[in-house]
Amino acid sequence: MCGIIGYVGKASAAPILLEGLRRLEYRGYDSSGLAVLNGGNKIEVRKKSGRLANLKGLIKESPVAGGCGISHTRWATHGEPSDVNAHPHTDQSGKLVLVHNGVVENYQKLRNVLAGEGHVFQSQTDSEVLAHLIGKYYDEGDEEDLQRRLVEAVRVSLSQVAGTYGIVAMHADVPGFLVGARLGSPLVVGLGKGENFLASDVGAIVSHTKDAIYLQDRDLVYLTQDDFSVEKVDGDLSEYEVSTVDFTPEQAEKGEYPHYMLKEIFEQPTSIQNAFRGRLIDDQASALLGGLGLTPRELRDIDRIVLCGCGTASHAAMVGEYMIEHLARIPTEVEIASEFRYRNPPLDKNTLAFVISQSGETIDTLAAMREGQRKGHRVLGIVNSVGSTIARESDGGSYLHSGPEIGVAATKSFTSQVTVLFLLALLLGRMKHLSVEYGRNMLKELRELPAKVEKILLQSEHIRQIALKYIDAPGMLFLGRQFNYATALEGALKMKEISYIFASGHASAELKHGVIALVSEEVPSVFIMPRDSVYEKNVSNLEEVKARKGPTIAITTEGSTELEEIADDVIYIPEVTECLSPILAVIPLQLLSYHFSVARGCDVDKPRNLAKSVTVE
Ligand code: G6P
Repeated sequence: MCGIIGYVGKASAAPILLEGLRRLEYRGYDSSGLAVLNGGNKIEVRKKSGRLANLKGLIKESPVAGGCGISHTRWATHGEPSDVNAHPHTDQSGKLVLVHNGVVENYQKLRNVLAGEGHVFQSQTDSEVLAHLIGKYYDEGDEEDLQRRLVEAVRVSLSQVAGTYGIVAMHADVPGFLVGARLGSPLVVGLGKGENFLASDVGAIVSHTKDAIYLQDRDLVYLTQDDFSVEKVDGDLSEYEVSTVDFTPEQAEKGEYPHYMLKEIFEQPTSIQNAFRGRLIDDQASALLGGLGLTPRELRDIDRIVLCGCGTASHAAMVGEYMIEHLARIPTEVEIASEFRYRNPPLDKNTLAFVISQSGETIDTLAAMREGQRKGHRVLGIVNSVGSTIARESDGGSYLHSGPEIGVAATKSFTSQVTVLFLLALLLGRMKHLSVEYGRNMLKELRELPAKVEKILLQSEHIRQIALKYIDAPGMLFLGRQFNYATALEGALKMKEISYIFASGHASAELKHGVIALVSEEVPSVFIMPRDSVYEKNVSNLEEVKARKGPTIAITTEGSTELEEIADDVIYIPEVTECLSPILAVIPLQLLSYHFSVARGCDVDKPRNLAKSVTVE
């Protein structure tokens, strides 16, 4: 939710900032802008609503030069997407510029006070208020050391802010100097040779340096091209460590694929393998999740599990709930993170809580984790982004090792989250009643998954043809039972988020309780119905739709050819044990929504109104 990048060094800042913004665009794409301090201590600001291409066009017409700059790509919260609301924002003097990710909740109050003092605001944003505040304290400061004066101005201003921030500020009178701070919104320092960076995400700077410091909440950092310093906003010392970024710049590019989403769908044979690599223990017929940091006795004592997440992660959690209850017989609940954080649900000492998040930065998931921890509970994380806030603050957990996921619609993170939850279910099950033989079978099933996913991916063109058939559909229904109820929800989410048609997912049996009223000749129903314990039930539901002239697409197990007589279209997935079937069944749904949306001319990597990482409430 908004991406920021700042640069100070010997090179020209603008191309570096623009390239960084390109890599951060997944965080928001309502507008973008940059400010560069030129040699004559003058700040040049360029900003434009719409996609980054608009800003690039503006800079081409009206270039900027200088080796120190800040930039921003916006997901609008306060104030519509427009040129004037785009960041960077300037203070009253025009000498201080700021980019901000987060929400200043008390901005109206601060704005009124500043307006009373004669400040004139250009935009409707909360962020501009912060720029004015910092500028005011800088102007009022009497420190002769101007760098120190700017740091103090930032410090005093932030102490008055209620809300969240990841900021970078720069002042015309303090050349070659950037100040950043974070609370609730991520900020990373990139350490180069003769150049330093600040960014929302390491992906923006990985082509320049692999040495990064993931700042913690309330950290304040200031940097020149050769030096940096990290302390707390309140002046205390901060402990930080320099980490090495664990992926290459190429991994963050889409290569020969037309879209990141398609690339990430096709990466799944590898990403699933990475999720279980080194975690299968053959001689115990079980799984190893060392990062949980729980002793066998502690694992045995768990009598309830809570899984928390948002969006796709919550769907993975639902599959996890079914898996854990099926394999380990431990009562498990899924909580939408935004509900959990305000609901105050009872947790007892043998309850194990997990938060699941690809980015590790989703604000509601983070808050749910902190709420659990505040009550003294151990909360573990299932996270993809190494060094993210949830990864750092959780009490242990497991990484997905999927590599960067950049397409806004989550794909490979879903299958990896389900894979890790399966490992957890197997581990807990093997501590309880599951036999060695059963465990071995499950390890074999897991190992076979990547090849089975490959086989489904080969059907991409067949799925595209089906998508084209329904290209004018005003809506789509997704239906599944048991383990694939969550798959139906995920299929519907993919479809609506990238194609903008109405789509909803349901437990198949719920059809008769209302959903069937939506069935018509124009609205296809996608049944996720592998040949499993509820296959026949799904067949009956499909017949019910058919009887009402609703077009049907069936996703089923190879060999279920009888469905070709009933359904309009059939997509086959290889045979797999029932509880792992969502990992295979979701792939055709990802491809269906992808091809459908591309054919309708939608920007699948950057769907309207969405952002990949939701860091505001
Ligand atoms: C946003 C994204 C979704 C994602 C959800 C949770 O809504 O658009 O694709 O599933 O956030 O993200 P997380 O990073 O916490 O998994």
